[in-house]
Amino acid sequence: MEVQQIIEWADGLVLIQTGKHLDDLETAILQGTYQNQKYSEIAAGYNCSEPHAKKVAYLLWKTLSQASGEEINKSNLRSTCQRLQLPALSNSEEFVTIDTVTQTNSPPPQGETTTQPYNTESFRRIDRTDIPNGDYFCDRQEEVATLKNWILQDRSHLVSILGLSGIGKTAVALHLLPQIQDHFDCVIWRSLRTLPSLSSILTYLTQFLPPPNPDIRPLTISYASTVAEAQNPSHQLAEQLSLVMESFRQHRCLLILDDVQAILNPHNLVGGYKPGYESYRLFFKTIGELSHNSCLIMNSSILPQELIELTNNNHRVKCLTLAGLGSDSAHNILTSASLLDADNWQELIDIYGGNPGFLKIVSRTIKEFFGGSVKQYLANNSILVLPEIKHILDYFWQQLSDLEKQVMGRLSASDSGVSMADLLENTNHNSSDLLWAVQSLQKRFLVDNIQREQQTLFTLIPVIREYTRQCR
Ligand SMILES: Nc1ncnc2c1ncn2[C@@H]1O[C@H](COP(=O)(O)OP(=O)(O)OP(=O)(O)O)[C@@H](O)[C@H]1O
Ligand SMILES: [Mg+2]
Repeated sequence: MEVQQIIEWADGLVLIQTGKHLDDLETAILQGTYQNQKYSEIAAGYNCSEPHAKKVAYLLWKTLSQASGEEINKSNLRSTCQRLQLPALSNSEEFVTIDTVTQTNSPPPQGETTTQPYNTESFRRIDRTDIPNGDYFCDRQEEVATLKNWILQDRSHLVSILGLSGIGKTAVALHLLPQIQDHFDCVIWRSLRTLPSLSSILTYLTQFLPPPNPDIRPLTISYASTVAEAQNPSHQLAEQLSLVMESFRQHRCLLILDDVQAILNPHNLVGGYKPGYESYRLFFKTIGELSHNSCLIMNSSILPQELIELTNNNHRVKCLTLAGLGSDSAHNILTSASLLDADNWQELIDIYGGNPGFLKIVSRTIKEFFGGSVKQYLANNSILVLPEIKHILDYFWQQLSDLEKQVMGRLSASDSGVSMADLLENTNHNSSDLLWAVQSLQKRFLVDNIQREQQTLFTLIPVIREYTRQCR
């Protein structure tokens, strides 16, 4: 019954926020609101005065708003619950609650520091709400095998899939998912493209994940002792995080966060996050560093600084940077686009760095304007930065500092790559600033490096080289 689900959801939020369950009047207010009753009717049904019911309702809406990170009131309760897609409320086909199964999970491997009994009975649920539709063919077998190994064998806590926009991060995660999902009690896919606050993500998780069993391990949540403390956002967040981590310990959950770059501050790759999203750092660090049985996969086209630190210090944190597609896979894209002139395909693939997203854009253009002939498209020897690709690169270009743009300019002047020594020779900037700029470009996956004759050379793929030349 829908109203019962709203009450359970609200009860969970109030519990997180105040340490207490809903009382009878609060429950009556939720029921009455659900049935479109006026406060006077709710009060009459509960046998109290209307002002008293209003006062209690005011505090209830405030608590729910703070706990959920959403503005909740009498007039939007139903629509907000619908929009938040409470697990049991959603009728969407996309939201699948798979059967309740009894399963015995494999025990944690040696070295797992957790001490609580491992969960033997769990119900498996998958939230597919944010999983993109579309043609996501992918045969990155090696990459998928590596990820599978990290997640299932090594039981990594935090795995990131990184690379330039269009390189196939979402495609790889989508391809991986069916191969690993049966090893988890719960699977949730969320995109951060719409900039959800960490609080709203944690609230959702506390609703969706099986609740931690206090008999297995007493929760370490410290309930607020004063109203002021309960209303302190960092206290609330810590409580939410603690609940989620307890579920992550007692169950094997898989959380996939796509488009993580959306919450990062693109102008300050070390500082990290957009204002208001800094708490994600704590979330990622907690998942990476604490002992638990779950896994977070995060996709990003910008490398967050703390991921480098976590990866260096912790064998449970792994990063996979996707390179362009190998020749066979890239050929498959051009074959399925029914392009002509197979002898010229490798040249086309090289120009676009084997980026499947770029190759798909180019294939459409070649079909539409050149009758499918790759030869004609390449005929005048100039590299076309098509509008859709320019649009993607513009987004990254506008995030660059002046020095980063200068370095890009210098790299774009060479087809074979530039060494650090060369860069230093031709600049007025000091070496640490320059090193910093090159590192920053690498964290954005705009610059590649190759090893040649005991030298590291920095290069741009031809289409980015051409774009940069045009920007200068
Ligand atoms: N291995 C592959 N084979 C065929 N097509 C692919 C492959 N990988 C990705 N694609 C296609 O390339 C396009 C871009 O892929 P995807 O959206 O996964 O990139 P992304 O790295 O997630 O980009 P963004 O950072 O913009 O989210 C999609 O249309 C996808 O279907
Ligand atoms: Mg993506």
